[in-house]
Amino acid sequence: MSVLLTNIGELVTNDPEHGAGSGSGGLGVVPDAAIVVEAGRIAWTGPASSAPAADTAVDLGGRCALPGFVDSHSHTVFAGDRAAEFAARMTGEPYTGGGIANTVTATRAASDEALRARGQALVREMLAQGTTTVEIKSGYGQDVATEARTLRIARELTPETTFLGAHTVPAEYAGDRAGYVDLVTGPMLAACAPHARWIDVFCEPAAPTAFDEDEARTVLAAGARAGLGVRVHGNQLSAGPGVRLAVEVGAASVDHCTHLSDADVDALAGSWAGAGLGTVATLLPAVEFSTRSPYPDARRLLAAGVPVALATDCNPGSGYSSSMPFVVALAVREMRMSPAEALWSATAGGAAALRRDDVGHLRVGARADLTVLDAPSHTYLAYRPGVPLVAQVWKDGARV
Ligand code: NIG
Ligand code: FE
Repeated sequence: MSVLLTNIGELVTNDPEHGAGSGSGGLGVVPDAAIVVEAGRIAWTGPASSAPAADTAVDLGGRCALPGFVDSHSHTVFAGDRAAEFAARMTGEPYTGGGIANTVTATRAASDEALRARGQALVREMLAQGTTTVEIKSGYGQDVATEARTLRIARELTPETTFLGAHTVPAEYAGDRAGYVDLVTGPMLAACAPHARWIDVFCEPAAPTAFDEDEARTVLAAGARAGLGVRVHGNQLSAGPGVRLAVEVGAASVDHCTHLSDADVDALAGSWAGAGLGTVATLLPAVEFSTRSPYPDARRLLAAGVPVALATDCNPGSGYSSSMPFVVALAVREMRMSPAEALWSATAGGAAALRRDDVGHLRVGARADLTVLDAPSHTYLAYRPGVPLVAQVWKDGARV
C-alpha cells in the first residue's frame, strides 16, 4: 500500500538532485512538496503539483518535513543519578570523568528489567523529539557480565550498538591497567562482540581513569580483529592523541573533538582525500553545555572540508539531554553553524558517522523515517529553541 504525504510546506531531502549548493546549503529543499512512501521506503519526492497517485493521502498542512534525526552517539542503558554532579559543575566544579565510577556501581547493581526500562524510556523520549536512528554504547558495566547484558538490552532497542568496555578503568583494576586492557580485549570482547556492531574507547590521557594512545590502539585493534567497526571518544578534555589515532585506524567517527590541533584537523581532512570513506568529526555540544566547557570549533572543521555530525551523547554524567533539536540549536547559536549545516550534520552527518546510507536523507529508496515540524521551515529548530516543534514522527513508513 502506498501513502502520499502532501502539502509539505518545506521538504528537506538531503538529496543533491533537489538543489545542492542552493541557499539551503545543499539540503535539497523542495518547497510545496509531497512524498510517496511504499513498503517502508521513499518511492518518490518532488513538488506536490506533480505527485503521482497513491492508495491513501495525508495532508501535512504546510508543515516542514525532514529526514528523521540520526543520533550517532548515546549511552542510554545505565542506572543511577548524577544530578548533584551537574549542580556542582554549574557552580564551578570541573568535569573530569571521575563520576563515571558512580554510574558503573549503580549499573552493576541494577536488574535487566531496570536497565531495559530506562533504555526504553530514553529511546521513546528521543523518538518523540524526531530521532529515528540511535546508536547506544555500553561502558557502565566494566565487567564481563554487565557489559554483555548492557549490550544485549541495547540491541533490543537499536541495531547500532557499540562495545565501550574501555570507557574507564574500574576501581578494582586501578593498580593493574594492563590487566584491564587484557580483560577488555579478551573475555569481555568475546562476550560482547556478538551483540555489537562497533567498538569504541575513551582515549584521553588528561583523564586519569581513561586510556592513553597505546592502550586505545590495542583495544581498537582487538575489536577490528573481532569484526567490529571502529569509533573513538577523542580530544574531549585536551588536544590528545584520539583524533589522529582514529584516522590511523580508519575509524568511522571520532567524537567530541573539543580540543583540536592543526595536525588533528589536517588528519581528519586527509582521511577523506582518498577513494574510501574517512573519519567523521562528531560534535556533542550538549556536553559542553552541561560541563560548562568551551564549544568545539565547528567552523574550522567545515572550512577544512571535514564532514561533521551532531549527536546528543545522552548520558547521566557529561550531558543528559536526549534532544537533537536542542543540539541543533546549540550548534547554530554556540558553534556558528548555519541552520542548514546543523540540520545536515544531525541527519546525513550522523548517518555518515554510522556508515549508513539508508537513513539521514529522503532520496528514493531511503527508509521512510521522517520528522514533521509544526513550523514552516527547518530554521525554526534553532529560531524557536526549547519549543516542542516535532508534530509527527514516521519510522519505516508508519506514523509512530
Ligand atoms: O561521552 N567521555 C566519556 N564518556 C562520556 C561521559 C560519561 C559520563 O560522564 O558518565 C562522554 O562524555
Ligand atoms: Fe560519549
